[in-house]
Amino acid sequence: MKFPPFEYMEWAKLIPPAANNLSRSGVAAPAWDELGIDLREVALYGDHPYGYEPLLQAIAARAGTVPGNVVIAAGVSQAIFLTAAALLEPGDHVLVERPAYEPLLSVPRVLGAEISRIERRFEDGYKIDPDRLAESLTPRTKLILLTNLHNPSGTFLTREEIGALAAVAGRVGAHVFIDEVYLEFMPGPKGGTAYGMADNIIAAGSLTKAYGLAGLRCGWILTPPPLVPLFRHAVDHIFVENVFMAEQIAARIFPRLAALRLRNQAIIGPNHARVAAFMAGEPRLEWVEPYGGIIAFPRLKSSGSGDELARLLKERHQTSVVPGRFFEESRHFRLGFGAPPEILESGLKAVGRALGEL
Ligand SMILES: Cc1ncc(COP(=O)(O)O)c(C=O)c1O
Repeated sequence: MKFPPFEYMEWAKLIPPAANNLSRSGVAAPAWDELGIDLREVALYGDHPYGYEPLLQAIAARAGTVPGNVVIAAGVSQAIFLTAAALLEPGDHVLVERPAYEPLLSVPRVLGAEISRIERRFEDGYKIDPDRLAESLTPRTKLILLTNLHNPSGTFLTREEIGALAAVAGRVGAHVFIDEVYLEFMPGPKGGTAYGMADNIIAAGSLTKAYGLAGLRCGWILTPPPLVPLFRHAVDHIFVENVFMAEQIAARIFPRLAALRLRNQAIIGPNHARVAAFMAGEPRLEWVEPYGGIIAFPRLKSSGSGDELARLLKERHQTSVVPGRFFEESRHFRLGFGAPPEILESGLKAVGRALGEL
């Protein structure tokens, strides 16, 4: 196994931040004071063989399952790797959505899987037709990889839609992996995990995007019970145990997630409305309006590429957006709108000016 360069990740990690940073897909971190944690209560050493029990319980309770079905991972990034490593063998067939967050594609590929794509088309509102999915399945299809909310478009598949896809996948014994890292922006009846809808659904989430807690690396996988041993074997080979201190801190934060979300929503709601108004008044762009979260994936109506727009924004307007080529869609760019309102405002004005310069 040899890892190829991960172009988007390198870009995201190394690009110097612009004054108007509209490339981010997560909110800013909360202050320690907001979390009310006494670090002296956090032990350096203790028992957490397959995860710290209070954290497993907190994750399981929200998902309506038992702690034994929860696998702790260092973010959804590691959840993607663990899932592919636990379930795939070289030559297995895997279906990955397009446009896609790059690791969903590159991780199974590096593990030797044969990849085909499920198109999520702009014209269809990025929905997935179960009949089209059925046509792409083969007896060797082991895994279908999706995001919900969708990165890059921010659009939403309902639990029922995912249930229909899982039913189709089940005909060939395939599992559906749903990266729900952005679903954390909108919990409740509409945002609830799809885990449990069918016994071939695997779901993963983390505290990174909606709570600004990327540094904790607290992620999880909700696994169908028969797969738990496979995941545990992968864990034992890959990292044995997660960071005990981070698990304890995360467990203490869980009761505060709703309050953190509410606080963030006070910024995100008006920002979403501002972006919607900008899009309505901008004839050179079109989009499928995101359902929730803080990312959107506008498309240039005429000539010019998302790359060129991103370059102009960076070089002339101190503004950053993510070029659509990182999601295999060169006419698009990904716009993050979780920034403070004044930054968003000046970033949107810059987009308008740069569009005129294309
Ligand atoms: C769809 C998707 N999944 C996972 C991640 C990584 O999340 P985590 O920090 O939980 O590893 C990202 C980050 O950009 C993402 O966009």
